[in-house]
Formats: sequence, structure tokens, C-alpha cells
Amino acid sequence: MNKFRIGSMEDYEKAYKSSIDDPEGFWSAIAKNFLWDKEWDKVLEWDFDKFDVKWFKGGKLNITANCLDRNLKDRAEQIAIQWEPNDPVQVGRTLTYRQLFIEVCKFSNVLKSLGVTKGDRICIYMPMVPELAISLLACARIGAIHSVVFAGFSSNSLRDRINDSECSVLLTSDGSFRGDKKIDLKSIADEALEECPTIRNTVVFKRTGDHVTMQSGRDHWWHELMQAADSKCDYEIMDAEDMLFILYTSGSTGKPKGVVHTTGGYMVFSWYTFLNVFQYNEREMYWCTADIGWITGHSYIVYGPLLAGATTLMFEGVPTWPTPERFWQVVEKYKVNIFYTAPTAIRALEAYGVDHVKKYKMDSLRVLGTVGEPINKEAWDWYNVHVGKERCPIVDTWWQTETGGIMISPLAGITPLKPGYATLPLPGIRPVLVDNDGKLLEGNNVDGILCFDFPWPGILRTTFGDHERCRNTYFSTYKNLYFTGDGCKRDEDGFYRISGRVDDVINVSGHRLGTAEIENAINEHPMVVESAVVGYQHPIKGQGIYAYVICDSKHGNDESLISEIKAVVNRIIGPIAKPDIIQIVPGLPKTRSGKIMRRILRKIAGNETDNLGDTSTLLDPSIVETIKAGAINK
Ligand code: PRX
Repeated sequence: MNKFRIGSMEDYEKAYKSSIDDPEGFWSAIAKNFLWDKEWDKVLEWDFDKFDVKWFKGGKLNITANCLDRNLKDRAEQIAIQWEPNDPVQVGRTLTYRQLFIEVCKFSNVLKSLGVTKGDRICIYMPMVPELAISLLACARIGAIHSVVFAGFSSNSLRDRINDSECSVLLTSDGSFRGDKKIDLKSIADEALEECPTIRNTVVFKRTGDHVTMQSGRDHWWHELMQAADSKCDYEIMDAEDMLFILYTSGSTGKPKGVVHTTGGYMVFSWYTFLNVFQYNEREMYWCTADIGWITGHSYIVYGPLLAGATTLMFEGVPTWPTPERFWQVVEKYKVNIFYTAPTAIRALEAYGVDHVKKYKMDSLRVLGTVGEPINKEAWDWYNVHVGKERCPIVDTWWQTETGGIMISPLAGITPLKPGYATLPLPGIRPVLVDNDGKLLEGNNVDGILCFDFPWPGILRTTFGDHERCRNTYFSTYKNLYFTGDGCKRDEDGFYRISGRVDDVINVSGHRLGTAEIENAINEHPMVVESAVVGYQHPIKGQGIYAYVICDSKHGNDESLISEIKAVVNRIIGPIAKPDIIQIVPGLPKTRSGKIMRRILRKIAGNETDNLGDTSTLLDPSIVETIKAGAINK
């Protein structure tokens, strides 16, 4: 067993203490576990005020040498990626470590043949097929920076992300399958590319086989380029602080930010957290149901598991198609040992009833995990009883795109569990709670805002092209602290429970969306004068989207206007941002200085209208009664 795998509560306490007493010694011992072309000169340099963090400065390496080349020695014939397609009738695919290595080398050469060099940005807009993972790794192998855009985003979202980081190549596919839907990815990409001047080439993977238009000179078929590609490709030697990838995520203001992760620290952190949280054992079948379009897929489908030499299962489909048994079929079919999913999926499946789960033999399961949003007690219990048969620890993992890896979570079977709690920080992680004024809340049994007062290797380094925005977003709210945006309780035992966002970010089915971003999309409808979006508690999605919209008086039929507004949001951002509820209102509750009082709108959306608090500072307090009277019941 790997000596860095924590084996007992006592071990955890020891590791935690040593990570606090000597963080540099702690992380450098872990980092030595990897292949480096040159060891670092300095383990850590940091300054939260300017926000400048460097881990393993001067170190030289390539992450794919650690994910692939290194694994050829002992596990070349072991399955690296087990792929399960959307439709259970189709056959899956397997790629051993050797096969994956060859595919990555070949595709690295394809990228090189298109003129891609170190530091270039490559946008990836692909379905959940093995070629998506191959794309990430091929970029990393030649030092190109990948920027994956979730394939459910619209052409506008894709265009904005490509332009923000000036990508030179787009990797996409003819289409994708998701449940009973077929999505025409290439047409969406074509629409985006009309306004993407930096894209010189695209590579199109054939998935659906549907006819697509290929622009001569720009668009190339994946399979054709691969046919001619050489299977030998030396890796590019990267600096530990060279960018590995950009991943866009929503915040409370403005457009999504390109969160930047670098090579050395991210590698060490994604591996260490994977190994310890899931207590991964050699040869286990590991399945994370996320999409690689999100950080969970980057860290815990691709990098973490491959660095650990695990078999990672990639699933193209959705939990409820063709039946709500799909997940459990897959668990049984591949004898999955570790299963990591989102609370929203658990709640959705719970709603279909337990008979669907009971049919399947799932005794291979050893560890269950959740991520992305708070898990309610009922869903936790259901997961524990019906999926885990009360013998699998559930790791409720709290983290963010910006943290690169899991920060607060039980270690499966090692540290205690408490339903609804992410429990304890991982070694090296130093959470602090502050009140609204930034005053440190010491001791236990306190409620506040979750921050961190010391860097960890997976922390973001910047937001692409705008360091000041990064500093402002994460390091200016409270001096010398990383601000997460989450509310949090530390209970009497010192366990952490995350309560949700304290800013204007909402979490819909585990997807992070900025309310301002949705409002901007709604406001694009020509009949919309102004809008305000808030989240409300939703039984399946965690949070639903409630939009209050002021319309032009000549807008005509309400119902058709509402569906048009939904269509606009769908077009501008994508289906995940479509409001669940739209209430047409004559005005919004604004203060005299013109600020919308969202607190009131949140309460109305949440049916908590008995105590709306002080409304006397509003410009027109009567508007509150009007909105209340027209509120839409859920
Ligand atoms: O609000 C927290 C919630 O998801 C946010 C981060 O979203 P994103 O960057 O998209 O990354 C999601 C996957 C890592 C956090 O600020 N969140 C994530 N995990 C949990 C959670 N809330 C409660 N419990 C969790 N386990």
C-alpha cells in the first residue's frame, strides 16, 4: 500500500498535525512520490495579499509522464479507462494504460501537426467519450493548455470562452447522445466559430455519424488525422508553475472566469486527495458520474485516478435513461467498488422508488461519495440504506473549481461520518470561519463564512487574463484569507457543515450559476425591461431558478412571453440556466439608491412571506405586496 495512504484516525491526526507544523516538509515528501525531470528549488512561496502562490518552484515535469509513462511498468495491460456508452445496447470500450498511452501520443502528434505548441490554448467541446480524456492528456503532453467547455453549453457560451482565452484549436464531435436526445454539437460549434477569430483548426470526432458540414482547410476528422499520426511522442518538459488548464466557472458578477490551475501542485493535490478520500486500493473499479466538462471530471475522472493507476469508468449517459436503473446496471455490470455522484442524482433516483435499486447486485460497492451541493439528510439516508446497504461509508466531499481538489471530507472508513457534514479538513487544509466583518470565529459551535488562511498545492493561481479580478474575488473580501463564498457551521465536535452560497451564486443540480449571468440573458429578450433572479429550494435540483421579470407593457400574452424568455436563456447560456419559474412583475423592490433587495425576493420565492423584514427603506414598499400576491406556488 502507498505509504501516503492514511490508514487510521490516529494516522489522520498525525498527518494533519505534521501538515500544519511543517507544510513544506509535508507536501514535498508527497511530491517526491512522482516523476520529476528536475526537483524543485523551493516548495512554497506565497502572498495572499498580492495573491501570488508558487508550489514546487523550479521543478520540471510533465503530468502525463506520471499518468501514463510511469504506469507502463507495472500496469500496461490494466484497464485505464472503462467506457460505458449512453445506450446500454451499444458495446462499451476499454483502453488499457498502454492503449491510452499510444492514443495520447498519437493525438499529441496530431495537435503538433496543426501547429500547436507549448502555451497555446485548446478548447475542448466534446461528449463523454474516451477521446475527451485523450484530448486533455494530449494537450498536457505537449504543454498546450486545455479549456474544456461542458457540451451542454450554448454556442454563445462556447464563443465567449474561446475568445476570452484566445484558443487556436477547437476539439469537438459531430454530435452527442444524452439519454433520448441527440445534440448537434458541430452545428453549435460552427455557430460559435462565426465569431471566434483565433480558431485556426478544428478536429471533429465522429460519434453520431450524422451528416455535418466540414469547412475545408479548417475542419478535420479525428479518425483521418489519427490514421497518419506517429505513436511516439516525447513529453514536453514543463515548469511546475506552467498552466495545465483553464476552466470557466460562474461567480456573483460579470461573465464566467477562467480559473487557472498549474502543473505540479495540481498533480500532487489531485492524487493525494483521490487516494485518501476514497481510500483507493489497487485494481479497484472507480466510477465518478460527473462530466469532464466540470472540475470534478478533471480531477476525479481523469487526473487523480490515472495518477493513482486506477481504472476510471467514464459514462456517456444520464441516470434516468432508458430507465432509472441505469446507474445500478452499470455498477453491477462492472462491479464498481467506488461510486461518486451528486446529491441531485440521488434525489432524482430516490423519487423513482427503491424497487429499481433492489433488482441489482451491488455488493462490489465499498465506498460512496457525493459532491457539488449540500446533501440533505433524507437523500443521505436513502443512499446509505439502499445503495450502500449500510456498509459503505459516504464521503461528502466539499470543494470548488478554484480549490482543484477535495478540501473537506471524511476519509472513507477512517474518519467519522456525520450525515449532512463534510466533516473534517484534509491534511494540509486550514479552514477558518469568519463573521460578516471578517472577525475570526474561534472555537466550536460557530456559524460563519468559510475561508482558508494558508495555501494548498491545488489552489487556483489566477483567472485567465485578469489577475486583479482573481485577487478581488477571492482575496479582497477578508484580508489574507481565501474567500470561498460558502456559509459554514463548525459544530460542537469541530465538524464542518456547508450550508450553501452567501453570494449571488446559485447551485442548480450541482451546476454553479451566477444570478447576474442569467439576468443578462433574460434581458436580451426585446420585451424585457429588467429582471432579478434568485434561487429557491427545489426538491430534486437542490436549488431552482426563480426569475422576476419586468416587461414592456405591450408584451401581449404572458404564457408565450414566458416560454420565449426561457428559450432566450437556453440559447444564450444553455438548458441548465433555464428559469424554472418566471413571474412577470410591474416593478422590483429597490432601495432609494436603486439596489434590488434580493433578500425580499428570496423570501417570496421560498414562500417565506410572513416575515419579510424591514421594507421601509424601499423606494416603493407597496411593490412587495403586489409581487407577493402574484407569487407562483411551487
Ligand atoms: O457551494 C459549494 C458547492 O459547490 C460550490 C463549488 O461549485 P463548483 O466550483 O462548480 O465545484 C463543484 C464540484 C467541486 C461550492 O462553493 N459544493 C460543492 N461541494 C459541496 C458543496 N456544498 C455542500 N457540500 C458539498 N459537499
